Amino acid sequence: MAEQFDVVLSEKTYTPDHSCKQNSWIGDYTKAYDAFLKDPDAFWDRAAKELYWFTPYKKVKEWNYPYARWFIGGKTNITYNCLDRHVMSSRKNKVALIWRGEDDTERIYTYRQLFREVLKVANGLKKLGVKKGDRVCIYMPIVPEQIISMLACARIGAVHSVVFGGFGAAALNSRITGAGAKVVITADATFRRGKTIPLKHIIEEAIINAPTVEYVVVLRRELHQPVEIHSEMEIDFYDMIKDVRPECEPEIMDAEDPLFILYTSGSTGAPKGIVHTCGGYMVGAHYTSKNVLDIKDNDVYWCTADPGWITGHSYVVYGPLSLGATLVVTESTPDFPDPGVYWRMIEEFGVTIFYTAPTAIRMFMKLGEEWPDKSNLSSLRILASVGEPLNPEAFEWFYRVAGKGKCPLIDTWWQTETGMHMVTTTVGEPMMPGFAGKPIPGVVADVVDKDGKPVPPGTGGFLAIKEPWPSMMRSVYNDEERYLKYWHTIPGYYAVGDLAVKNKNGYIMVLGRSDDLIVVAGHNIGTAEVESALVSHQAVAESAVIGKPDPVKGNIIKAFVILRQGHTASDRLKNELLYHVRITLGPIAMPSEIDFVTSLPRTRSGKIMRRVLKAKEMGMDPGDISTLDE
Ligand code: WT7
Repeated sequence: MAEQFDVVLSEKTYTPDHSCKQNSWIGDYTKAYDAFLKDPDAFWDRAAKELYWFTPYKKVKEWNYPYARWFIGGKTNITYNCLDRHVMSSRKNKVALIWRGEDDTERIYTYRQLFREVLKVANGLKKLGVKKGDRVCIYMPIVPEQIISMLACARIGAVHSVVFGGFGAAALNSRITGAGAKVVITADATFRRGKTIPLKHIIEEAIINAPTVEYVVVLRRELHQPVEIHSEMEIDFYDMIKDVRPECEPEIMDAEDPLFILYTSGSTGAPKGIVHTCGGYMVGAHYTSKNVLDIKDNDVYWCTADPGWITGHSYVVYGPLSLGATLVVTESTPDFPDPGVYWRMIEEFGVTIFYTAPTAIRMFMKLGEEWPDKSNLSSLRILASVGEPLNPEAFEWFYRVAGKGKCPLIDTWWQTETGMHMVTTTVGEPMMPGFAGKPIPGVVADVVDKDGKPVPPGTGGFLAIKEPWPSMMRSVYNDEERYLKYWHTIPGYYAVGDLAVKNKNGYIMVLGRSDDLIVVAGHNIGTAEVESALVSHQAVAESAVIGKPDPVKGNIIKAFVILRQGHTASDRLKNELLYHVRITLGPIAMPSEIDFVTSLPRTRSGKIMRRVLKAKEMGMDPGDISTLDE
């Protein structure tokens, strides 16, 4: 782990108009934070009471380090809060979802319509024998049916495990078998930049050696080219719900029952199935959608994340719907058919809150101001970012070009494991480019050394969280040891795995990962998964993978490969290896560079020192190499 180091910090500050704070849900940050500190349980009790519980909880939390239980004895169903409540109110005919396809098709659902579809799919899944506690894997492109399927699982108490549509067969297989999924819901194809990318062969390969899978439900998008229904296992999505009724009582869920599993990369070994619960997660997603993103009833809210990632779970689906918001969701990429597409959507739909990622912002920067300038962006009132550090240049550009210097721009730091925002500048508070901000009311976080001692301002250390919060992960699915590791790395803290530095105002700047995870375009990729994909190719003896800084993507993946005897380095082999990773793990995990080498730096115990490779790659001092094996 890193030694302590000093960071020179800029003090540039933007102070938003006073009315921003006055009109925000959160109001004054300091006041809200003090109210939390005064009585944390009363604070979370107030947040939880904004949601409906079939049976009220008896106690806010029980904390037996490092295990927490929240809203003890409470019974609820998140879909009741996301759908029934609105359908029974004046929001019945309010638009819940505006979906724009890659091919420019559009589908709009009111709360009532979304509700009906969810209930039908819930009944369809019941017909297949899916029951409370069963796992359902959802491997789909960004289509309304993806969101509907998530909600349908939650309706009947099935645990969804959404796998991002950009993963390949091996990555999908390990996530299906890891969760022991009974049903997989998928689509025949995804559309990307004008091309049709077939998905079905990926799923067919992924369910070989996945004995728990009983059914594969396929949404057919390519109507002119219907996919054959191959086997008994396969069911057409709309056939499944052809003759079911849109009536399905919500399953009564205990607050601590699991709501979903979401896989995230680990720095070693297989991906980790992060488990979130029905009660605490719901409260965390709802509270932050309201108090951080400041979603109001008349907002048109657009978060560009794929529901296949945690951002999509918390801030496309569950949080915003629990508030009865109008969501914009699109399958399209920001530069197709031209780089104006996102900006036109903002104007066309009248988007008021726009939540995206640094990698997209840096891409917009590269494409030039003429694209946003072609559209009227005056509907925007809040900008937000997530996924990796928002560098000051990208902050300035987004703040000025999209927000015209008038919209609060909040950089939200959090993770799959935390379920909700943890560190960010709240709406109305002064913003410092490069800094995510302070822990939000409800969260106790600090920058500490390896012994858990807070480090002084300006000195780098580990970002760590002290007290439990409602939407914290409850376990790593079937892997107790990896759960404990989060809590046993820094005494007394939840170790998040990021390096950070605080300034004298308590603002936190996140510097990047302290472990072997690579954040590529805001997606967490484990070096271990890419390395094992490379080694599974017959020509590869060994490999090491590092993240190399990139001006747009944050990092790119660079692989070092030692070939087996009898294989020679060539461009052809390089391409073959790239293709091999692409089909096993998927396009997001594909290295951008491969170097063939004859040895790799190792510790005496044989561990590859990726840190040394990275320093060498960047022309930097490798630091302490006393453990390096000559
Ligand atoms: C890791 C978590 C939370 C949704 C997206 C990714 C990095 C995330 C920020 C930010 C600096 C950030 C961290 C974190 N990260 N947001 N605002 N500033 N870094 O979720 O895949 O679980 O990844 O993403 O390194 O630990 P995830």
